[in-house]
Amino acid sequence: MNTPDLSTTYLGLQLKNPIIVGSSSLTDSVEKIVKIEKMGAAAVVLKSLFEEEIIMEIEEQTHSMTNRHFVFPETMDYMETIETANILADYLELISASKKSVAIPVIASINCMSSQKWTYFAKEIEKAGADALELNLFFLPSDTRNGEKEIADATSDIIASVKQTIKIPVSLKISAYQSNLIRYTELIDQSGVAGIVLFNRSWLPDIDINQLVISSGFVLSSPSDLGNTLRWVSILSGRTKCDIAASTGIHDGAGVIKQILAGAQVCQVVSSLYLNDLFQLDKMINDLSKWMVSNEFRSLKEFRGRLSQSNSGNPAAWERVQFMKHFRNFV
Ligand SMILES: Cc1cc2nc3c(=O)[nH]c(=O)nc-3n(C[C@H](O)[C@H](O)[C@H](O)COP(=O)(O)O)c2cc1C
Repeated sequence: MNTPDLSTTYLGLQLKNPIIVGSSSLTDSVEKIVKIEKMGAAAVVLKSLFEEEIIMEIEEQTHSMTNRHFVFPETMDYMETIETANILADYLELISASKKSVAIPVIASINCMSSQKWTYFAKEIEKAGADALELNLFFLPSDTRNGEKEIADATSDIIASVKQTIKIPVSLKISAYQSNLIRYTELIDQSGVAGIVLFNRSWLPDIDINQLVISSGFVLSSPSDLGNTLRWVSILSGRTKCDIAASTGIHDGAGVIKQILAGAQVCQVVSSLYLNDLFQLDKMINDLSKWMVSNEFRSLKEFRGRLSQSNSGNPAAWERVQFMKHFRNFV
C-alpha cells in the first residue's frame, strides 16, 4: 500500500497532517517554530498574549503619561497607547517573522476574559499575517455571580467583537470545567467560530507541606488525562458545524489515532514535547502513518469519527461515569 494521505483541513487551512503544536513556550520564538516545522508539525499555535498583560501595560503607560489614576479607555487615545505597548509590538513581530520563516500555518492566540477594547489588537494580529486566531477563555466556576448565562453571554460578546474586527478564522479554546458543555458548544458553534479546542489545561495548585505554602502542581499533563478529552470529542463529534481540535493528554501516535477515531479534526500537543523533545512529533506522525497502513486506511477521512458517540454503536460507553461492575473486583 502507498504512503497514506495524512493531510486535513482545520479552520479552513490546509494542513499536511493532523498534528499541531499547541500554545505554550514551545512556540514563543521564531527559532523554536522553525525547528517545530522541521520535525513535521502541520501548524503552530503561538504562546498566548494575555489580555490582563496588555491592560496592565497600557495602564502603566497611561498612568505615566497622565500622572493620574488609570482612565481607560475613554479619556486617552487608546489606539495610540496600544500601539506603543511593548508586549503587543513583540507579539506582532513574532507573527510576521514566523510567517517569513516557515510555510506551515501560524495561529495566534489571545487569552481573554472580556470583550474590552483589546479586540482592536486582533486587527493588528491579522495585519501581521496570522493565519487564524485562537481565543483562549477560562472561567473557573467559583464566582457565584458568573453563572452559566453570564459565561455564555461573555463568550458570545467576545466572539462577536472579534469576528467584527477580523476576517481570518477564529477558534475558541475552552476549559473542561465549563458547565453544560453541550449547550455551551452549541452556542459557540452558532456564533460562527471555525473551531473549538477541547481543552485548555489550567495551572494547578498544590501545597508544600514543609513550607506550609501554596505551590505549583504538575504543569504537564500525562497520558492518563487523555480520557476526558476523548469523551467530549466523541460526544461532540458530528454535532458542530465547526472543527473540533483535541488538546490535553495526547502524548503519542496512539493518542492521536484515538482522538481522530473519536472525531477530532486535529490534535494539539504540548506536554509530550516538553517531556520527550520535538523528536516526538516525527514519531507521532510515523506511528499514525504505520497504523493507517496496517489498517488499510488511505486517508484520515476513512476513520475519523468511526468511534464517536453517534457512530460507535455503544453511545452509553462515552457517558459512563461510574465504575460500577467494571471495577467491582478491582484490587
Ligand atoms: C508550560 C505550558 C504553557 C502553556 N501556555 C499556554 C498559553 O499561553 N496559552 C494557551 O492557550 N495554552 C497554554 N498552555 C496549554 C496548552 O496549550 C495545552 O492546551 C495543554 O497543555 C494541554 O495539552 P497537553 O496535554 O498536550 O499538554 C500551556 C501549557 C503548558 C504546559
